Amino acid sequence: MTAKLVQLTVNGREEHIAADGLISLQQVLREKLDYNTVKDGCTQGGCGACSVLVDGELALACLLPVSRLEGAEITTLEGLNESNSAGVIQESFVEHSAAQCGFCTSGMIISAKALLDENPTPSRDDIMEAISGNLCRCTGYLPIIEAVQSAAGKLAKGGDGE
Ligand code: FES
Ligand code: FES
Repeated sequence: MTAKLVQLTVNGREEHIAADGLISLQQVLREKLDYNTVKDGCTQGGCGACSVLVDGELALACLLPVSRLEGAEITTLEGLNESNSAGVIQESFVEHSAAQCGFCTSGMIISAKALLDENPTPSRDDIMEAISGNLCRCTGYLPIIEAVQSAAGKLAKGGDGE
């Protein structure tokens, strides 16, 4: 059977992917395009380690067959490098020791970025809700919540915002 060719834009770059069967966005990003910040955790939608933005919305790459993504714009953590707000979030993660082994960190930062794009002044509950799909086995979550609060505060002051 001939694989369907799917056109995606990944981090601003146009890609044409042979979408064999149910190959997932996670497999394509990691194995074909070398975006290794998209982690291979549970592959079942349970850990958030593969979080990306699809057309600006938070999504789990392991649950998305590429064949359904014709024309979609995908952003991974690599693609957020030019974004000041992502830089501020990463800086706050370092300041609050919110990244320990680092396995969950890219997914956490993507979830935080999606939250702050939507809601620049989140409450603590909003942050907890936003990262509720992201598992972390190291930090106990508190440093991550504080890092996101701190990033929101810095961005609200405007100096480091986009
Ligand atoms: S690897 Fe996708 S949610 Fe766990
Ligand atoms: S820092 Fe290790 S899983 Fe979160």
